[in-house]
Amino acid sequence: MATSRLGIGFIGSGFVTRFHLQAWVGVRDADVLGIYSPNPEHAASTADLARKLRVGKARAFNSIEEMIAAPEIDCLWLCGPNHQRLQNMQSICDALKSGKGKLIGIACEKPLGRNAHEARRMVEMVEQSGLLHGYLEDQMFAPSVTRGKQIIWSRAATLTGRPYLARAAEEHSGPHSPWFWQGELQGGGVLNDMMCHSIEVARFMLTKPGAPRASIRPVKVSAQIASLKWSRPDYAKELQETMGPEVDYRTKPSEDFARATINYLDEDDNPLIVEVTTSWSYVGPGLRLSLEVLGPEYSMSMNSLDSGVKLFLSRKVQGAAGEDMVEKQNAEQGLMPVIGNEAAEYGYESQDRYFVQCFLDGKQPEESFYDGLEVTELLMTAYMSAEQERTIEFKPDGLDSYVPLVAQGLWKSRSV
Ligand SMILES: NC(=O)c1ccc[n+]([C@@H]2O[C@H](COP(=O)([O-])OP(=O)(O)OC[C@H]3O[C@@H](n4cnc5c(N)ncnc54)[C@H](O)[C@@H]3O)[C@@H](O)[C@H]2O)c1
Repeated sequence: MATSRLGIGFIGSGFVTRFHLQAWVGVRDADVLGIYSPNPEHAASTADLARKLRVGKARAFNSIEEMIAAPEIDCLWLCGPNHQRLQNMQSICDALKSGKGKLIGIACEKPLGRNAHEARRMVEMVEQSGLLHGYLEDQMFAPSVTRGKQIIWSRAATLTGRPYLARAAEEHSGPHSPWFWQGELQGGGVLNDMMCHSIEVARFMLTKPGAPRASIRPVKVSAQIASLKWSRPDYAKELQETMGPEVDYRTKPSEDFARATINYLDEDDNPLIVEVTTSWSYVGPGLRLSLEVLGPEYSMSMNSLDSGVKLFLSRKVQGAAGEDMVEKQNAEQGLMPVIGNEAAEYGYESQDRYFVQCFLDGKQPEESFYDGLEVTELLMTAYMSAEQERTIEFKPDGLDSYVPLVAQGLWKSRSV
């Protein structure tokens, strides 16, 4: 390939794009050169941030077509909101079909689609486009996760047998933008929003390094969802006041708690278990990612809030509320953990570096839209299980046309 350095364009200019820009400080061989958002002010301020961070001479674009047509743009990071995913992808495909641009690859944020049908459409469109494609699952690239996996498999599993149980959780006190809280726009509640991470990181830990995804097979799923906090009248009122009139959890809640067990089989039909929990009803110092892996003679555990730095701030330190110590922090006083470099520790930095290297080498990334599709299929099976209150064999009939009640705005109960 003639290109020795890639120009990257971001679609979306919100919270996650800013995380990627922080991470880009540690990414080589690629510059952030474009930002598109339908809101020109958002695009301009995010492009400004990229320039301030010196991750590239980014400029704001007025449309996806214009950004693709710009000769300096080689790859796209698709980071718009979930309900715009298909439309964003359609615009990319239309621009390419009309002969614009010289794109090499596209990397897409989670979830690939709001349901299995949308995720499958994303796969079909990327196949037709001929682009290399990556599915952005940052937690699989977190240094603690990759290092833990490497040591478990090279030192312990080779001598005593493969790991058989992975538990993963992601919890915080609720998302930052109104659309996340609206089932129809987001595709569900916390199960759809965050269990995608836990499912994929747990599956990754149980998969032998270098073995294909299909080397372990999901065979059944059992799950439960509930609205534990945000549909309580006082909290529903508070939520509506902060997120706007469309977010009414008294009449249209989404789940703020979900758990699932996924049974897998390995190559020799030995059972493996993945347990995942996720919530928007966790109040603590901030976002908590936890992971445990158990094998016959070993175990591993990780908790992102067990950080290397802790601050104690007395009651006289009465500053403004913020997220300066850790994402989604719930307090500014007392004993607080601080994460030195969140973008690196959550995995964004290694993730973005990996996808840049693949695209530069003209190589299809191992974590791709196909993985995004399977994660979505598992999430939808978990919703089916929660609604029907029974264990469901994977893959169930009707998965491709299934839309969870929460995503239709029809989920009324506070718990299933
Ligand atoms: N990997 C992670 O841990 C992680 C974390 C947060 C969000 N995400 C995912 O990233 C995506 C974006 O989330 P966010 O937190 O940045 O959301 P956000 O609400 O903070 O920002 C969304 C941005 O998209 C822009 N936008 C609106 N309509 C658009 C359109 N039609 N096309 C393109 N952009 C549009 C908005 O102007 C805004 O800047 C979501 O799919 C979300 O699930 C992933």
